[in-house]
Amino acid sequence: MAITVLGIESSCDETAASVCIDGKIFSNIIASQDIHARYGGVVPELASRAHMQNILPVVDQALLKAGLCLSDISAIAFTQSPGLIGSLLVGAQFAKSLAFSLAIPLIAVHHMQAHVLANLICETDSLKSPGFPFLCLTVSGGHTQIVICNSPSHLEVIGETLDDAAGEAFDKSAKLLGLPYPGGPLVDRYASDGNAGRFHFPEPRIPGLNFSFSGLKTSILYFIQNEKEKDTGFVEKNLADICASIQGRIISILLNKLKKASAQTGIKNVCLAGGVAANKGLRKAFEETGKAMGWKTFIPKMEYCTDNAAMIALTGYYKFIDQSFSPLSVTVSARADW
Ligand code: KG4
Ligand code: ZN
Repeated sequence: MAITVLGIESSCDETAASVCIDGKIFSNIIASQDIHARYGGVVPELASRAHMQNILPVVDQALLKAGLCLSDISAIAFTQSPGLIGSLLVGAQFAKSLAFSLAIPLIAVHHMQAHVLANLICETDSLKSPGFPFLCLTVSGGHTQIVICNSPSHLEVIGETLDDAAGEAFDKSAKLLGLPYPGGPLVDRYASDGNAGRFHFPEPRIPGLNFSFSGLKTSILYFIQNEKEKDTGFVEKNLADICASIQGRIISILLNKLKKASAQTGIKNVCLAGGVAANKGLRKAFEETGKAMGWKTFIPKMEYCTDNAAMIALTGYYKFIDQSFSPLSVTVSARADW
């Protein structure tokens, strides 16, 4: 009998649902919450409220697109951690209620594991996916990690950020430039017309495979303050070059550590994941680095990089195979512990 998993994602400001049948994705529905843009960041209470409004129609659409009804589902997978507690609670309560009423298993999924496993998503048989073990650089709004993935259920974090995540580095830099939230995609867009060598921002010296982005943020702040004292229109006149230079530095910080991780582990199957993996400059530089280093490189499709439920449903599928189910008493957690 087919294993049909309904995945639900609600860890931050995206309400999403997806259907995965025997490891293949049949629907991937996402409702984004535009309301946060006017506040310059995600407002947790508003996010929870929007999840409550969106979750039913999103799940309905995911089932409709897959041509299924509730009685076809084998299990419900949901994001259990990490994330905003109120947001997680909406998805978790919905998943629990549905699992209880249908008398089917409930599967708690770690959001960061799911981002990594997005590299295994296939919609057709022809799509290639990485063999094990593979290295994954996961770069999102809340996390920056290098992970060894030995199998879908055996992941090992070998490097992570000590302060800001790569997505925060993008968003906070964008805010300093007066761009609206979330600034990452806008920095990406302006950077494509800019000269990355025009302005220099220092690379932090962090030992091992860990990252730090707080120093970069401070250097950008002082740089902008200094230049604005000389010319109040400096940012507007040089926006593309500033964005390209900031983006270039973030990319070099990320890829230098990834090269180090590959050299240390000897793993040459290398993947990207997370919202920042949607960045065009990073995708290009990652492919170029891969070619130069003799890696086999993999990047999920754009819709599977940013928060989505397909990655939750697929992780749920692997956990279903392992019979790794959760009791209805399982609680959500804001923390990222694996
Ligand atoms: O993985 P994700 O959707 O949510 C979290 O789990 O955090 O990542 C969101 C982050 C935000 O910081 C957003 O600005 C960043 O990904 N992001 C980008 C781009 N698209 C999304 N950053 C740079 N360039 C992009 N094109
Ligand atoms: Zn995420």
